Amino acid sequence: MKPTKVSGQLENEAIEAMLVEGRVFRPRPQLVADAVLSPDEYEEAVKQGRSDLEGFWEKAAEELDWFKKWDTVLDRSDAPFFKWYAGGKTNIAYNALDRHIKTHRKNKVAIIFESESGGRERMTYYDLYRAANKFANVLKSLGIRKGDRVIIYLPNIPEIAIAMLGCAKIGAIHSVVYAGFSALALRERINHTEARLVITVNGFHRNGEVIKLKEAVDEAMTASPTVETVVVVRRAGIETDMGDGRYLWFHDLMDGESAEFKTVEMDANDPLYILYTSGTTGKPKGVVHCHGGYGVGINRTLKWVFDIKETDIFWCAADLGWVTGHSYVVYGPLIVGTTTVMYEGHLLFPGPDRMWRIIEKYGVNILYTTPTTIRILMRFGAQYPKKHDLSTLRLLGTVGEPINPEAWVWYYENIGRQECPVIDTWWQTETGMFMVAPTPCNELKPGSAFKPLPGVHVDVVDANGDYVDPGKGGHVVVKEPWPAMLTTLYKDPEKYKEIYWSKFPGMYLAGDIATKDTDGFIWFLGRSDDVLKIAGHRIGTIEVEKAVTGHKHVAEAACIGVPDKVRGEVAKIFVILKKGVEKDEDSLVNELKAHVRKVLGPVVLIREIEFKDKLPKTRCGKIMRRVLKARELGLKEGDLSTLED
Ligand code: WTA
Repeated sequence: MKPTKVSGQLENEAIEAMLVEGRVFRPRPQLVADAVLSPDEYEEAVKQGRSDLEGFWEKAAEELDWFKKWDTVLDRSDAPFFKWYAGGKTNIAYNALDRHIKTHRKNKVAIIFESESGGRERMTYYDLYRAANKFANVLKSLGIRKGDRVIIYLPNIPEIAIAMLGCAKIGAIHSVVYAGFSALALRERINHTEARLVITVNGFHRNGEVIKLKEAVDEAMTASPTVETVVVVRRAGIETDMGDGRYLWFHDLMDGESAEFKTVEMDANDPLYILYTSGTTGKPKGVVHCHGGYGVGINRTLKWVFDIKETDIFWCAADLGWVTGHSYVVYGPLIVGTTTVMYEGHLLFPGPDRMWRIIEKYGVNILYTTPTTIRILMRFGAQYPKKHDLSTLRLLGTVGEPINPEAWVWYYENIGRQECPVIDTWWQTETGMFMVAPTPCNELKPGSAFKPLPGVHVDVVDANGDYVDPGKGGHVVVKEPWPAMLTTLYKDPEKYKEIYWSKFPGMYLAGDIATKDTDGFIWFLGRSDDVLKIAGHRIGTIEVEKAVTGHKHVAEAACIGVPDKVRGEVAKIFVILKKGVEKDEDSLVNELKAHVRKVLGPVVLIREIEFKDKLPKTRCGKIMRRVLKARELGLKEGDLSTLED
């Protein structure tokens, strides 16, 4: 098929996209025959999801255990603060662990953990259940109660799952802070949640080095008055100063505790966790997810989309610091009762075949990763996967950013032997669960995440909230509530309403742009707001600008995303220096890069810093990033009438 040019008008911004993909990939008949959800059941589910939303999600909720059944499937009375399974009582940890202990899953491997140095550890459901109980008892003895906030600042090691589940069991609200974030980012999250407890590790392995994570906690603790206790996991064999009486070893605390704990009964809408994510303001937003609807949503979507079988080994290569790790490394796989792989280290350590080694070693059946990872591995070449037996793989998945057809096809051919469908899943921290994704029975087009899942009402609309014709670009919205939706922004219900529900009445605004083709396939084109996706990680341009202007020589800064062949997008920063600053540009660029790294952590990849005398602004002084971006990419500048000069 010839390339089709797609364009659309979004306010002043023209959306242009080149869809060069006309290929359609059909699943193998055997895959379809064995699928958890047959094609007929899929069609039936799509129909029910449209005609009887509540009935559809009621059936899904029956797959979980409840201490008390809900009174109403979906309470819309206080919209947009929707309450799923209102009146119901449950606990996500009960569904992830306790209920399995009474079945054949008791002795099944829950987590396969691989350390960066290649060591392996297997925890059965019973092991994990006991560990989570012990940790819940630790929390109790440290005075943590239902509703208290606990910050978890850990990398992918078994203790992070134990900590999350222990918090859930006691009803404490956890907030995981990505171990790649800085002390400053950590402090900001501690203070915003007013956390009473922080759990961290003395050190862990990353790319052959020991990262002394506790040092960042020490730094953050100088201005974190709410924290009473820091629990430290001992991992790297390093000297660790345990400082004042607030620091306690995880293993000492666990040793003394009982492995019995009565999981606390939570309301379906009691918060389970807060996860901070970047948006269009300078401060990260605290997305809140709850025990009930969230559990129902991730269980249903994981089972259907990744077709989970009792014997499967599922590997989601995400870090637990992001929502993907929450929903599909820990909670989802455990609720479903599968075996989940958790890897501590760098995906390229000690060489570019690490992922293929892990797949071979454990016989992984389903691999879920990001387009950036695929593109990086693609660059190293197909000789690496060829050296390994990847024949156990049945399904491949991707998430976090749009996948280019070239990477899709490389993944399909070289990793999936042209037999494993590439399941592209579109969703967000806010949605909690997959929203747009195929099941293994569907036909696929490389680069499209297929269609909304049954019971999910994602659509693409124009600037007035109306239907857009196929091929035209528009805003991504969700027209009906879904169970794993965020329930609010922590301490900021007004922002929740404003950011997500005010642009189009009655519709959730995702902040993405997309187009639909004549077959109803959705093609995501990127963000419509000031959020970057660097290697799939969400970074707010304003956060980057705030970090840059925090440097003593900087007067003003503007950050834009520029396309990157491997990482999807990276940052470019325009800087106006303070008057009188005279410094060698190269050394200043390095200094500023190091400064951003210190403030925000290594996730912000900066392509270039350019010094300017002025920046394009609106009459009221707002920097017009859109203009900078258009100039940078050689596009039309759009409507510049609000420009000052
Ligand atoms: C982007 C990650 C295209 C999108 C789970 C969304 C995607 C943001 C896809 C959320 C995909 C995620 N295709 N774009 N399959 N998946 N995105 O909150 O822009 O870190 O709004 O959640 O990632 O990022 P977040």
